[in-house]
Amino acid sequence: MIKFDFETHVDSNILEEYKEVLNKKEEVLEQFNNSRMIGWSKHIGKNNLDKINNTANYIKENFDCLVVVGVGGSYLGSYAFSQTFKKYFKPHPFEVIYVGTTLSTKFLNDLLVELEDKNYCVNVISKTGKTMETNMIYNFLKEDLLRRYGYESVKDHVIITTSDDGNNLDSEPCLEKFDIPKNIAGRYSFLTAAHLLPLATNFDIYDIVDGYYEGANLIDEAFNYAGIRYLLFKQGKIVENYSIHEEHMVAFTEWLKQLFAETEGKEGKGILPMSTLYTRDLHSLGQFIQEGNKILFETFIRFKKSNIINYKSLDINDINNKVLDSVITAHHKGNTNILEITMDELNVKELSKLIYFFMLSASFSGYLFGVNPFDHPGVDVYKEEAKNLLDEVINF
Ligand code: PA5
Repeated sequence: MIKFDFETHVDSNILEEYKEVLNKKEEVLEQFNNSRMIGWSKHIGKNNLDKINNTANYIKENFDCLVVVGVGGSYLGSYAFSQTFKKYFKPHPFEVIYVGTTLSTKFLNDLLVELEDKNYCVNVISKTGKTMETNMIYNFLKEDLLRRYGYESVKDHVIITTSDDGNNLDSEPCLEKFDIPKNIAGRYSFLTAAHLLPLATNFDIYDIVDGYYEGANLIDEAFNYAGIRYLLFKQGKIVENYSIHEEHMVAFTEWLKQLFAETEGKEGKGILPMSTLYTRDLHSLGQFIQEGNKILFETFIRFKKSNIINYKSLDINDINNKVLDSVITAHHKGNTNILEITMDELNVKELSKLIYFFMLSASFSGYLFGVNPFDHPGVDVYKEEAKNLLDEVINF
């Protein structure tokens, strides 16, 4: 179960204005339901899921590892999810390497060394098929595969996930192809092959899908969250700090930052997302949150139950939760408004449900801000500039 508390640590004057946003609820839901871009709120077909699962099994049987090439909404969902459930000092049973987010030559050099003795499969993921980093790194790896296996066999190591609109990737020879539906924007594509295929190598995707659908019952909670954030923004709280207490969720906060920043940050509007990991950051950003400029509010994402480890006959998890309670009290005393999202325990189904909740809420929030939640014209500006500069050397 997930508990949402958007009242206990929120100023009463903000709550008093809630009626103002409630009046907009019907209109927001109508805009949402009329959008062409909510394919992610519909069910994914069983045949699709089976194809993803079978392909993941094939990858596990025939390769040493999967190299995922993608950036932004084409990688963050699966990366965040898999990182959250990683063991601290052990890799996942099947190795998945994420690339495409950096052009660092050190990274690429180290990558080639790492892959040298491995029989690897590449899953290149790009909805548009036109993203510079993704195309460049994919072509870089293709050259490596070409050197090793020869022209005819490269395709046996490549899986393409893209929109079937005839873009460059769409027409690449490959082992298997998956579609990112046109009615789903990158950062909302968690329930497509873009994320489910990499995840299927280590997780039961049928569980992920079940949990995700449960998120559809959280429309009221998602609207409340969007509404309270909007009112806080109007009171000058222009920064939202996502606070977590599990280091493995750092990547999840990266996913959240992307979801909300790309959804709301348009036309001079939007809340700037940031994140802190507690207790680590109580000894750095905690000072600013307690006593600094009051431009931010906090959203705590916590879970109550975890492994039981005792210390002097006390459960360390209880101690951790008590510490978090005291942080919330202290920050609220320092005039920081706090929203709380608490899972009973962190498991695959609960996190999938939470992902759906945040995607619903981000899209409602876009409508409250009066922007299109599903485009990202700002990202396209740099993409176009890079294309102008590099078109002659890179095939976009
Ligand atoms: O959320 C989005 O739409 C973006 O972050 C895209 O996912 C990102 O720019 C990558 O685009 P593409 O999948 O077309 O390569």
